[in-house]
Amino acid sequence: MPNYLIAPSILSANFAKLGEEIVDVINAGADIIHFDVMDNHYVPNLTIGPLVCEAIRPLTRAPIDVHLMVKPVDRIIPDFAKAGANIISFHPEASEHIDRTIGLIKDQGCKAGLVFNPATPLNYLDHVIEKLDLILIMSVNPGFGGQKFIPEALNKIRTVRRMIDEKGLNIMLEIDGGVKVDNIAEIARAGADTFVAGSAIYNTPDYKATIDQMRAALAKL
Ligand code: DX5
Ligand code: ZN
Repeated sequence: MPNYLIAPSILSANFAKLGEEIVDVINAGADIIHFDVMDNHYVPNLTIGPLVCEAIRPLTRAPIDVHLMVKPVDRIIPDFAKAGANIISFHPEASEHIDRTIGLIKDQGCKAGLVFNPATPLNYLDHVIEKLDLILIMSVNPGFGGQKFIPEALNKIRTVRRMIDEKGLNIMLEIDGGVKVDNIAEIARAGADTFVAGSAIYNTPDYKATIDQMRAALAKL
């Protein structure tokens, strides 16, 4: 069985007590903190930046997985690296020079990820896949939590899983959007190993019970 990782998205946390929400989700068994950055330009919503990343950094040793939904993207990358991000992912449409942006993330000592919207073709991987640490497949259009899972994402996951395995690469394959207890197993079967879940965890009363149910669904595979 692959090492499945659960990555709660703090987008659905209660921001009035964000620190507590992060500690709670880690104590509930989360592996990674997924940190959604939106700029009201690349996506129609506005969230949090490097100052918030820096503020939460001391609360956990878990990796902070920064999902940049901002354009342009390069200028803000060093700020997130300094703020303690471990993984920084960006959308190819938001970068003029994808290879350069990947290099910038790695030069800052972070793992680099490339993110694919539902209608973004996978051929952006053609010349850079070997440089990536993570590939993130969006199963909703980016911008908001609580949207419905787009099933076509499963085919994309299968295709990317094949590419990673055929090349023998060590790349995390992450899914983001509409992930829930009742579809996580199907997504894992398609080949994902890292699961972002915002509303499915933070909109439930007992985070541990929800994460346990997700792990139980994965353990049955
Ligand atoms: C959407 C964000 C997601 C979002 C997922 O643009 O990238 O990380 O928080 O939320 P859920 O899990 O509620 O679909
Ligand atoms: Zn995200």
